[in-house]
Amino acid sequence: MACPLSDGIPEQHGQENDQVTESPGMLYGEYLRLDKILTAQRLLSAEYSKEVHDEHLFIITHQAYELWFKQIIYELDTVKALFNPEPSSYDPPSLNGSSNNRSVPKNRLPQVLNESRTLEILKRLNRIVLILKLLVEQVTILETMTPLDFMAFRDYLCPASGFQSLQFRLLENKLGVKQEHRVKYNQSYTRVFGRDPKAIEAIKRSEEEPSLSCLVQRWLARTPGLDSHDFDFWGKYKRSVDKLLAEQEQHARKQTKEQLRNYHLSNVRSRQAAFETIFSESLHNALVSRGERKFTYAALQGAVMITLYRDEPRFSQPHQILTSLMDIDSLITKWRYNHVLMVQRMIGSQQLGTGGSSGYQYLKSTLSDRYKVFLDLFNLSTFLIPRQMIPPLTKQMKTKLSIACNGWNPDDNQNNSDCTLEDT
Ligand code: HEM
Repeated sequence: MACPLSDGIPEQHGQENDQVTESPGMLYGEYLRLDKILTAQRLLSAEYSKEVHDEHLFIITHQAYELWFKQIIYELDTVKALFNPEPSSYDPPSLNGSSNNRSVPKNRLPQVLNESRTLEILKRLNRIVLILKLLVEQVTILETMTPLDFMAFRDYLCPASGFQSLQFRLLENKLGVKQEHRVKYNQSYTRVFGRDPKAIEAIKRSEEEPSLSCLVQRWLARTPGLDSHDFDFWGKYKRSVDKLLAEQEQHARKQTKEQLRNYHLSNVRSRQAAFETIFSESLHNALVSRGERKFTYAALQGAVMITLYRDEPRFSQPHQILTSLMDIDSLITKWRYNHVLMVQRMIGSQQLGTGGSSGYQYLKSTLSDRYKVFLDLFNLSTFLIPRQMIPPLTKQMKTKLSIACNGWNPDDNQNNSDCTLEDT
């Protein structure tokens, strides 16, 4: 196969190879703009005093991260567009604020996701997952630098800090991290971009557009089978749960040893209380307002249904999508954790960061569930019931779930609750 960089000129062997570089078309270095990339490592230690060997690694590591962030955002924008097909109006926004960016109006009604695109969504989400795995691991390379080596050039960096990474913030916002869920110091992260109107514009846009979480919720709320006039999954599921809890209570009461009986009874009580929070919309919403749950009520129901019936052909890919979304959340948390550990190793737990935060203490606080966008998917396991208690599908429902059709059809479901930007 001809190399695309050589403009279709067939490969040549031996001495004739020399002629290839003479031919029209682009050379490797030109195509990849290596003149720019490979000259972008400016060691401040060399400029100010004596070159510190490890500063090179420090710069390359950060640059590699930023390049991968760029690729993740690129994939994420197209995944969001696939979840939110618009009549040719949704151009994935770019970082540079160029004119192809059109912000998406608030509360716009979602279009139906064409199910033939779920494989493409899955492919891109999996790619993001693999990149994140790499990013989690990459921390270990930088850890080969010792704290003493870092100390030798750290002062030159001030006030530069990863806190000012625009792409990291865009990534968080595009996934669905919300301002009010950030820890206090982080709520004012936009301050650091004050002198860069393009960055501010990109951030504003990323906060206003429907996030991936929002789009996923809209899609989940339309899961076929939720409609109470049709299969009524939620009603059937509640009856199964009531039966299960009654059986467990009966079993607990039969225990002859008081200690064991009390243990089992309190276990059943806490399960009852947990289930109550998903069967009462107001309890659910109270948890949402405290940031302990993120999904709309209808989206949560869709996620439970897909999880329980994941073996049905039409739910197989949606279930894999939910798994990938959890992987993304979980890998970002792992990255935060590895980064915090590295920071403690490099500067301890008492020094301020170059960006002005409390350093280790601030970063440790970002490890909380508040930053998990798909928190509800992690917690779904609380609401699983044994296979034999899963409500059997009706013949009509079985048929509906046995074939993929053109989309989560709105007629499948009247329960078309929308996830607005305000309520995610
Ligand atoms: C020696 C290595 C590193 C040290 C000591 C370090 C230190 C810190 C500190 C102290 C903060 C808190 C903000 C501040 O006050 O400065 C921070 C934030 C951050 N750093 Fe690093 N960092 C290191 C490497 C990296 C690398 C390789 C990346 C990759 C891009 C990175 C990305 C970030 C990001 C995105 C934040 C913001 C996190 C948030 O606010 O949730 N850091 N870093």
